[in-house]
This record gives sequence, structure tokens and C-alpha cells, in this order.
Amino acid sequence: MIDLHVHLLPDWDDGAVTLEEARAMADIARRDGIMKIAVTPHIFRMTRNEGDWAGLADRTARFKEAAGEFPCEIYWGAEVFVQPDIVESLRGHDLTINGSAYIFIEFAAEALLPGAKEFLFDVMLEGFIPIISHPERNAEFQARPRLLYEIVKMNCLAQVTAKSILGGFGPEAKRAAEIFLKHNLAHIIASDAHDTGARPPRLRRAVEEAAKITGRAKAEALVTDIPQAILENREIGDWGEPEDPERGRKTWLIRLPWKK
Ligand SMILES: [Fe+2]
Repeated sequence: MIDLHVHLLPDWDDGAVTLEEARAMADIARRDGIMKIAVTPHIFRMTRNEGDWAGLADRTARFKEAAGEFPCEIYWGAEVFVQPDIVESLRGHDLTINGSAYIFIEFAAEALLPGAKEFLFDVMLEGFIPIISHPERNAEFQARPRLLYEIVKMNCLAQVTAKSILGGFGPEAKRAAEIFLKHNLAHIIASDAHDTGARPPRLRRAVEEAAKITGRAKAEALVTDIPQAILENREIGDWGEPEDPERGRKTWLIRLPWKK
């Protein structure tokens, strides 16, 4: 398996604190059957080193020296939090997954920014393919899953977190993850691991759970074929037509974005 979203870079964000912890996380991943990991440090959020690009380069270089002895192949990416001048940041820094067109974009947990679709369109105009990080943990995607459908129809991808599928982020996140899997709106399962305890890099149990919804072949592809295509900067093969999870729901009601 391939885990495309792991906070493995030591001493940068709220993920691994030390190189030893990063190595212990990689050991857990390997025992779970994960052979390849993409290291995805937070950019613009959850880091006390905000804006310290030289510090990021320095930590990355030091980690690369040690990572050759890790039990998993290590690749590089980032998880970029939305903020107004993101396009400039993407132009100036290599934040995509393994130098591909694919890039993790993270929205705040409580709401989407107004104009999220236009924002993503701007990112796509620069030649990037956004992968929405864990939409199932976002309150607005939970309440209005059609939003993710509309974004996927724009040719964006979405990553659901293994722990969400298993219920570890609460019933709403689990339910949303199931909806996205069922309607061809999730393309990747990743661990979004931060440590060896509460948020470890494990995928296998979540794949077994996802298989009950998507069938075995697709559940396996979520952690093998699709992440491999992303690492190689290839197109995603035919994944099945995205379906509108709210099809048939009456839409005349104007709801405030944070109400369910
Ligand atoms: Fe993350």
C-alpha cells in the first residue's frame, strides 16, 4: 500500500517531533503493509514555523539523509492550507506530491471559505490538480455533500482519512466518508498520521471497511493504483462517474452554512 498523507517530517508541525518518532511511525506503517509514504508537512497552519521556507528546506534536507534507512520508500509532498495568496506560494515553492501536478489542499474543519470553487479553479489554472484533504472532517462538506460532488466534477480529487472510515473522528465524519466512498467522490485513503499513538500510519483496517461500500477492487485501488498514478504524475483511470449525494433532496430551503 501507499500512504500519501503523513506528517512525518520531524520538528516542523504537529506531527513527528523527533527523527526517532518518525522512524517508529514508519515501522508501524511497514507492519501494516505500507511500502511507500509521502511526507506532507503542513504549510500555513499547524506549524509554529509559519513562513520559514528556509527552515523547511533545512529540515527536509536533514530528513532525506536519514530517510534512506527507513523501512518504507519516502516521497515528498505538502498539505497546503487555503489562504488568499496560495497561488503565489504554489508558484514559488515545490509543494506538489513527488513533483507531480497533484497537491493536497486543506480547508478549515468548521467551514469552507466563500468562493471555494473559484479558488480551486484559480489553482487549476496554474496547472495543479487539487486533492481535497479529508473533506469528511469538514462541517460544511458533511452538511452539504453535494459541494464535494461539484468540486470533483471540476476534476479535483478527494482524500478520506483512514481513521474517519473507522469512526475515530466521530459519527458525522464516518457517515460523510461513507457517502463519499459510495458516490465515487473519494479517490484516496490516507492515514494523515501524526504520531505512533492516537494517529498512527495505518490503512489496512480502513481498506477492509471501505471494501464493504465500494467493493474489493476499488477499495484496494484507493491505496495502491491511484496513489501510484499520482506519484508518477499520471492521469487517474476511469474511476466511475461522480454521483450527486443530494440528488432528489429538496433544495429550496436556504440553510446557513453551519446548520445541518
Ligand atoms: Fe494532514
